[in-house]
Amino acid sequence: MEKLRCAVIGLGMGMGHLRGYLDNSRAKVVGVVDLDEAKVAKGIAEAPEAKGFSDYVEMLKECNPDVVSVALPNFLHEPVTIACLEAGADVLCEKPMSTSLASALRMEQVALKTGKRIFMNLSQRFTQENNAAHELMESGAFGEVYHAYTEWTRRDWIPGFGGWFGQKELSGGGPLLDIGIHKIDMALWLMGRPKPVTVSGITHYQRGVPRAKKENVKFDVEDYATGFVRFENGASLIFEASWAGYQQTYSQQAFKLIGNKGGLEIAEGKNGLDYIYNHEVNGVPLASRLVCDKMHGASSTESLVDCILDDKPFRANMEDGIRMQVILEALYESAARGKEVNIKEEFPTAFALL
Ligand SMILES: NC(=O)c1ccc[n+]([C@@H]2O[C@H](COP(=O)([O-])OP(=O)(O)OC[C@H]3O[C@@H](n4cnc5c(N)ncnc54)[C@H](O)[C@@H]3O)[C@@H](O)[C@H]2O)c1
Repeated sequence: MEKLRCAVIGLGMGMGHLRGYLDNSRAKVVGVVDLDEAKVAKGIAEAPEAKGFSDYVEMLKECNPDVVSVALPNFLHEPVTIACLEAGADVLCEKPMSTSLASALRMEQVALKTGKRIFMNLSQRFTQENNAAHELMESGAFGEVYHAYTEWTRRDWIPGFGGWFGQKELSGGGPLLDIGIHKIDMALWLMGRPKPVTVSGITHYQRGVPRAKKENVKFDVEDYATGFVRFENGASLIFEASWAGYQQTYSQQAFKLIGNKGGLEIAEGKNGLDYIYNHEVNGVPLASRLVCDKMHGASSTESLVDCILDDKPFRANMEDGIRMQVILEALYESAARGKEVNIKEEFPTAFALL
């Protein structure tokens, strides 16, 4: 049987994509690309069948991949994804889809024109515990979900300080766009995708910006974000996302969901890998259940190969990427204005994308 020809551009997070493809016996990694020669060498060491490149245009010409992972700094998602689509490949694009909604919509236009697809690496949809939660939601165990609470905060972990992550023009935003996106996406996914109507976002610049001044590097994104989302069905969401909080652990994640029949909490267990669900049906509390004993199931890349070859739906698509871009942009707009933004009334075209 023909194997799916896969390529990876950008070998930071892209190494995870590479390993996911290698884990699927129906995939073949034909090309790896990075500007850094040492990273290309590492990629080839793990995928000896692949050819290494520093120029993605050359790779597309020589390798003719079926699907390409674009795991580059956010500002490169648009041009590189478009080049891949125009070369006839589907794309698995890292989150966020791009640095702005306008850019994400330009990517969509090319996908529609070429008939090629953009899939999104909203990777939290692929973990074992979150899948178990999704199955419970779909089974109706929570009834009408009316509130979600999410948190992803880090103690002092601003990624690549002085590099592209901290520059709005190159990244699109700080922790809200970087890690908040995962939890907000997960909330929408586990709430059954209600439509956000109003958002209130707050961003703070108290730790990264002063540190950047001292170290004489560029940094103009928030280091802390919090906010509130009201949905059309009356449900609500509170989130917190931070790269530089004051807390015991370097990274802390939390997720709670409340419905009229039950709810859950996804919490890190004693060994850091156990996830516990507190689950209640028809007012009768059940004992906390350990639904899984490891954090990750099949990776998104491993699962994408089967979806493409078997023509099955993938769990995170271009529409999900665009939807997140609408919400995040509205949250940044709200933070800039210092007041709530009504997406439905003020941005009806964007609201239609939700
Ligand atoms: N889904 C997740 O859980 C997750 C986790 C981490 C990062 N990400 C996303 O992955 C993307 C990359 O993040 P990262 O942490 O790997 O960043 P990074 O800066 O560590 O790695 C980016 C890589 O791209 C290479 N690169 C830059 N420009 C290039 C070009 N023109 N051609 C080829 N290679 C080029 C760099 O040399 C570098 O190796 C971002 O969009 C980020 O948001 C997603």
